[in-house]
Amino acid sequence: MMAASRTPCDVLLFLLFSTILWMCAEFSRNLSVELNPGSSTPPPGGDLVHVRAVGDNDTLHFLFCSQGAPALLLVHTDVTSSDVSVNWPLFLSRNTSGSLRVEPANSIMSSTALVFSRLLEYDDVNDTAEAPFDLFPPYQLHDVTWSRMELSGAAARLCGAVAQGSICLHMWVFAGEGRDESWPRLLHTANSSQVAVRLDGLAARSQRSRFLLELQTLGGAYPLDAVRVRRSIDDEFTPSIFKVSEWTSGANESSEDGGAFILWKQVAYRRSPPALEDASPCRHSDPRRRSGRALAEVSGLVRAFFADEEERAFGLNVSFGLAGEPFYNATKFLSWTALVGVGLAPADAFSPLVAAIVAVGLGAPLVILLMGGVYACLRKRPTASTSSYEPIN
Ligand SMILES: *[C@@H]1O[C@H](CO)[C@@H](O)[C@H](O)[C@H]1NC(C)=O
Ligand SMILES: *[C@@H]1O[C@H](CO)[C@@H](O)[C@H](O)[C@H]1NC(C)=O
Ligand SMILES: *[C@@H]1O[C@H](CO)[C@@H](O)[C@H](O)[C@H]1NC(C)=O
Ligand SMILES: *[C@@H]1O[C@H](CO)[C@@H](O)[C@H](O)[C@H]1NC(C)=O
Ligand SMILES: *[C@@H]1O[C@H](CO)[C@@H](O)[C@H](O)[C@H]1NC(C)=O
Ligand SMILES: *[C@@H]1O[C@H](CO)[C@@H](O)[C@H](O)[C@H]1NC(C)=O
Ligand SMILES: *[C@@H]1O[C@H](CO)[C@@H](O)[C@H](O)[C@H]1NC(C)=O
Ligand SMILES: *[C@@H]1O[C@H](CO)[C@@H](O)[C@H](O)[C@H]1NC(C)=O
Repeated sequence: MMAASRTPCDVLLFLLFSTILWMCAEFSRNLSVELNPGSSTPPPGGDLVHVRAVGDNDTLHFLFCSQGAPALLLVHTDVTSSDVSVNWPLFLSRNTSGSLRVEPANSIMSSTALVFSRLLEYDDVNDTAEAPFDLFPPYQLHDVTWSRMELSGAAARLCGAVAQGSICLHMWVFAGEGRDESWPRLLHTANSSQVAVRLDGLAARSQRSRFLLELQTLGGAYPLDAVRVRRSIDDEFTPSIFKVSEWTSGANESSEDGGAFILWKQVAYRRSPPALEDASPCRHSDPRRRSGRALAEVSGLVRAFFADEEERAFGLNVSFGLAGEPFYNATKFLSWTALVGVGLAPADAFSPLVAAIVAVGLGAPLVILLMGGVYACLRKRPTASTSSYEPIN
């Protein structure tokens, strides 16, 4: 016979179990992937991958495109039914905006494009790795002939031939939280995608060449006009790498309203697969105002989605290596990884190892106290089932 009235013990047990349930349930999205949505044939000039990530009450559209300079467009809507429509003949002519739409248009909360515009190489004769750079003619990434997209689940990869080597971009979208298996082991959530750039086997134009990657963004409501640098926790996931850069809108309300961010650890790797000893620091310049019109010239995706008058573009350069670090020629390889998402960027909490150590020190007494309470509660319920509590002696 169960007692009908709730005792403090019932409440304690209920709270305990609901806390455990709440801690275990994590936010996730339903992903679906489409290559060249609405097109029956592979379009000339480059592919378009659409990953639709549906949440409880919103949808993220990740569009990754190689028409011109590689670009990633992230559109956040506040409905679960939004979708992408492409007018292919207009999209391919690359001279009008509005040929790629996310509908319904009034559900769009934020839209941000990241364009990989140029790869710059300079001769670091004095090994300073400082501007002014002695630049070689830049590689315009919209002039590169890109391979077709290789899809694998919610991930896409494309490569182009540059200077007898290759530049490859890899994009992943995630259904839930996790941490990348490979260095720099970035933490991701269901609200972010990850992009990696690899410069493999390029014929350097000098013995002491170093590279810069020029990135440009175009944002609707919240343009990415500021980079915040945070200290990262130094744990077993990123020994010795202390700094994380977060390129977002300087407006305070941006993250609450689902504005976009681009986040990276200030590190690149000189070998594949990346290992700790091959880590090389990277730096970035301050975001500078760029021309949205010029960006639409190099990216078919920007041209197709953003209105003509859109001018909220910003750009920066990521530079690989510091004075005294090996030059590109030493390994002929560089990889760099960033996270592109909306809302609050995931911050490295303490790793499970550190958390366990802290928990043993601080949490254990609390757990013992709680267990004691639960034990006392269970013991004090003889009315529920008297017979099942036989003493074991
Ligand atoms: C995800 O898909 C499954 C099965 O297709 C469905 O049951 C579930 O409700 C979906 N979840 C969301 C958040 O749309
Ligand atoms: C979904 O959105 C509606 C209307 O904006 C809101 O009333 C509801 O609380 C939201 N649900 C969740 C789970 O966020
Ligand atoms: C866009 O280009 C197509 C052909 O590529 C042409 O027919 C059309 O007139 C052009 N539209 C504009 C607005 O320039
Ligand atoms: C390298 O150093 C030399 C001698 O100090 C100087 O004349 C030259 O301008 C420097 N070159 C660069 C690119 O900084
Ligand atoms: C991801 O977005 C959803 C919906 O906007 C939100 O409820 C959730 O808290 C976000 N998760 C993170 C880690 O920001
Ligand atoms: C470094 O680059 C130069 C090109 O200026 C090339 O001649 C040389 O062979 C390269 N060295 C190595 C070790 O690859
Ligand atoms: C953001 O918030 C801080 C403090 O909350 C305030 O000092 C700052 O002026 C705000 N910035 C903007 C752009 O509103
Ligand atoms: C990147 O660096 C090059 C060379 O210093 C410069 O011309 C270019 O404007 C920079 N790009 C941005 C977006 O700052």
